[in-house]
Formats: sequence, structure tokens, C-alpha cells
Amino acid sequence: MNFRTFSKFFDFLPPEFLHSLFIGFLKTQLYKKNNSFENLKIKVFGNEFRNPLGLAAGFDKNAEVIKGAVNLGFGFVELGTVTPMPQYGNQKPRVFKIPEIEAVIQRLGFNNRGVEEFLEKLKKAQKIKSILGVNIGKNKNSKDLISDYLFLYQKLEAYSDYITINISSPNTPGLRDIQEKGNIEKLLNGLSKIKKKKPTFLKLSPDLSRKNLENICRLVIKSEFVNGLILTNTTIQRDNLFKKPVKNSWKLGEEGGLSGVPLREKTNKIIRSAYELTNGKTIIIGVGGISTGRDAFEKISMGASLLQLYTSLIYQGPNVVVKILSDLSCSLKRKGLKNVSDLIGKNIKYD
Ligand SMILES: Cc1cc2nc3c(=O)[nH]c(=O)nc-3n(C[C@H](O)[C@H](O)[C@H](O)COP(=O)(O)O)c2cc1C
Repeated sequence: MNFRTFSKFFDFLPPEFLHSLFIGFLKTQLYKKNNSFENLKIKVFGNEFRNPLGLAAGFDKNAEVIKGAVNLGFGFVELGTVTPMPQYGNQKPRVFKIPEIEAVIQRLGFNNRGVEEFLEKLKKAQKIKSILGVNIGKNKNSKDLISDYLFLYQKLEAYSDYITINISSPNTPGLRDIQEKGNIEKLLNGLSKIKKKKPTFLKLSPDLSRKNLENICRLVIKSEFVNGLILTNTTIQRDNLFKKPVKNSWKLGEEGGLSGVPLREKTNKIIRSAYELTNGKTIIIGVGGISTGRDAFEKISMGASLLQLYTSLIYQGPNVVVKILSDLSCSLKRKGLKNVSDLIGKNIKYD
């Protein structure tokens, strides 16, 4: 029985409970994939990645299952989003699975145990041989978001391989407004006080207007602080994303960010635009609806140097990582490409 069929038996359980079971399972470290694909090894921002596929933020918000996540076969893992103070997040229920289209709608609202506990766990994980990114966000009730980001950045930088500034989660009121012209400049000016040593990424929304994307790309090319973009977070839009009718269609009306298969094309458009706007000069991490080797191939071909996923792990289970990697590895050979880096931004078709 494959994971899709197996997991249908558990569909009556709340998604957050299933997530805690999955975390518990990974903590046992019983699942371990020692995959190695020579043609997927890649060097980005000075770091050697065993492959370009990472775990997206939101899965391990409290840095509690780092080794278990690495064991899934990922080339890197992004932890968080972590905020300065612990916070419960929004009222439950706040996560909704839509299996027919392999999507999730959630409005968790940065539920996490806060930076102190996170840091303790991260310090203990320093021996783990993998690239670890940390995704930082502001507390819901924070009065001064720049000081939240400054505080987190300085606390966590020494223990992470890169930092992601999350300005795109739709479930923290006002957070996405930081992407607007004027606000983003203020944030970057505020952060540039730090003498940073680690690569830094901005994670953006797929709902960003063309004007705001152009502005951010312009800033990023000039910026000494930001090294790249993570494209993208979840979408609040529901139009034109669904090709199939959905059984529990009331779920589509739930407020929150949508992820998974229906997000894929929307994200791809932003990746392509950002790659063109920056003339391929900024690092792009592509994330949104990756569930097959083809999806991975396409995002890299459009300009992403690295990739991440989350939702397909929910629907396809732990084997999805190696499935995507082996397909990507084979497709590179089929196209006569020696290494995955030869595909970045080349607009080569998968078929
Ligand atoms: C349950 C859930 C929680 C998430 N939490 C976060 C988060 O805390 N921070 C963040 O930057 N992105 C978060 N995301 C967004 C993912 O990192 C990713 O950008 C998005 O889901 C698109 O990728 P996917 O289609 O592969 O899931 C979350 C996504 C899901 C499904």
C-alpha cells in the first residue's frame, strides 16, 4: 500500500495532531535515507549542498526534529518561523487539508515556543552535518518589528548557515505590508546596522504586485545585506487555482494561506520574473507546489538554484524526497546535463 492510500485512513484526525505524530516518528530516527546523487551536488553561497532540495519553513517551527528531517534525504533544512516570544497562534481549527488537489489551507499564525527554547535546540544540533537555515518573524503583538528582526538575527546568526527574513506569512496582520515600497527600504536600512556574516534571504508572497516585485528586486541587487529571495510563501488567493471540483468545498472559503499543487504555477511565474529582473544575479530558492521531479526540474530551469517543499510531504509521505531527487537526477542525464547547476535559468523543457 502506498502512502497516499495509507494516509486516507487517518483523514478523520485533525491535521495538527497528524503533524505531531509525524514529528514523533521522525524523533525516533528510524527512517534514514542515505541517498547520494553525484549530479545533484551543488555549491551555493559558498556552501556545499548534497542536493538542492530542502525542507521548507513551518514544518519544524521549534527546531525539535532537525536530525529526523535531515534523515529524510533533504539537502538542507529551514527551521522556524521563530519569533522572539512564545506564542500560541490563532484559534483551532486552523489547518485544513484538501486531498483532492493535494493542497493545504492554514492560518497557524506563527505558533512557536519562542527563541530561547529554539536556540537551545539549535546549539545542540551544531554537530549535524547538514545546512541549516533559520526563518525569523515578528510576534503578533510586537510594536516594533525592526527590533524583533534585529534581536532574532543577532541571536541566531552564529548557529545557522543562513537566515530568512519572513515578510510574507498571511497569518500575522500587517506582516506582508513590509513588502510595500517605503516599508521594505525601512526594514533593510534598519537591518543593515548588523555586521552580518551569514547569507540572508527575503521570503516573499506569491500575491506580490509586479510593482512591488520590481522594487524588491532592484533593492536586492544593490543590497549588501540580502543575498537572495525565497519564492514563495502561501497564497491568500483562491481564483483560477483549482481545476478539479472539491468535495468539502467549504474549506476553500477558510481564511489563510494556501499551499501545495495549486500554488505551483503562481510561484513559477514569480520565479521567472525575479530571475529576469535580477539578470540571474541573485540566488533564488524556489518553493510552492513541488510534488514531482518534473516540478523540481521546471523551477530550476526557470532560475531557482535551490528548492524547498512542505505540502507534498503531507500527501506523499517521507519517500517523496528521494522520489523527486532520483527523477531530477535522471532527467538531467536525459538532457545531457552534467550537473544540476547547468540547468539553472536555462529554460530547458522537461519533456
Ligand atoms: C502547515 C504549514 C505551515 C507553514 N508555516 C510556515 C512558517 O512558519 N514560515 C514560513 O515562512 N512558511 C511557512 N509555510 C509555508 C511553506 O514554507 C511554503 O512556503 C509553502 O507551503 C509553499 O510550499 P509547498 O507548496 O511545498 O507547501 C507553512 C506551510 C504550511 C503548509
